[in-house]
Amino acid sequence: MKVVVTRRIADSALKKLLSRYEVVLYDNDYPPSREWLESNILDADGVLCMLTDKFDSELLKKAEHLKVLSSMSVGLDHVDLDAATRRGIYVTYTPDVLTDATADLTWALLLAAARRISEADRFVRSGRWKVAWAPNLLLGSDVYGRTLGIIGMGRIGYAVAKRATGFGMQILYYQRHRVSEDKEKAVNARYVSLEELLSTSDYVTIHLPLTEQTRGIINEERLRLMKPTAYLINTSRGAIVDEKALLRALKEGWIKGAALDVYEKEPLPDDSPLLKLDNLVLTPHIGSATTETRNRMAEIAAENLIAVLSGTRPRYLANMDVVRIRPLVS
Ligand code: GLV
Repeated sequence: MKVVVTRRIADSALKKLLSRYEVVLYDNDYPPSREWLESNILDADGVLCMLTDKFDSELLKKAEHLKVLSSMSVGLDHVDLDAATRRGIYVTYTPDVLTDATADLTWALLLAAARRISEADRFVRSGRWKVAWAPNLLLGSDVYGRTLGIIGMGRIGYAVAKRATGFGMQILYYQRHRVSEDKEKAVNARYVSLEELLSTSDYVTIHLPLTEQTRGIINEERLRLMKPTAYLINTSRGAIVDEKALLRALKEGWIKGAALDVYEKEPLPDDSPLLKLDNLVLTPHIGSATTETRNRMAEIAAENLIAVLSGTRPRYLANMDVVRIRPLVS
């Protein structure tokens, strides 16, 4: 069987595939072009892809032999899941393993924004540190004991909440469905409307998947609900926030600061006005980027793919309905 891998991944994962299949590897650190994908998936049985590879219905149509599309990511907004299901393609992903790394990065960003870490680093490196200690130098905001608003209390949102208990924070959360009372109690979280969360939180952090319902949900009107002393952190998907509105919010002081790991367009264009703002911390989509986590993500993505091609249920299947369209055969 033929398997396409769209980027160089951990050797341990690659080995699992090389010992079983004919592997076509796009051996680069940047994504393959659409044309490369189109011509290489024509006769592929499996594809191991990244979140930068857009598998829309047009592209999936070309993959006539494809049985499994295994994404090395938790987010699946780059895949047309309905089209894949209709074509009997199993779509798998890698949740759980990256939960803690992403929650850690969220906290790193929250603290960096609150305590102006990037600005302070730039200050020291640029030779502007001339006074040993100054009572008013680089003053930030308290974190301990403040209110944290979590939009999206799934695996990652909840892991962020757990960390917040160590900072003595009140936790508010919003999503479509309330989590169990036990889970709420364990982190002392209160379920509120999105409006209440935005207007009362000192820190707002987003942990939603990108869907048609969540696209642009943090728009101008909602940003204006936030306190002028509040911060916004986003480690989920850029398009959940209206970036133009956020730019104004940061420039005009509707909010105090923000920290972003994700953007409407990635990589962030060189001329993005966001690059000019000092009250914004920027990282390049590195939520799950630890060696341990990325190795495990690659291994799990390989295992998911192997499971489907050997006719067994993969550990992380995103489109359950596909089982009826193309039952697994071992
Ligand atoms: C990262 O953004 C992922 O979806 O894994």
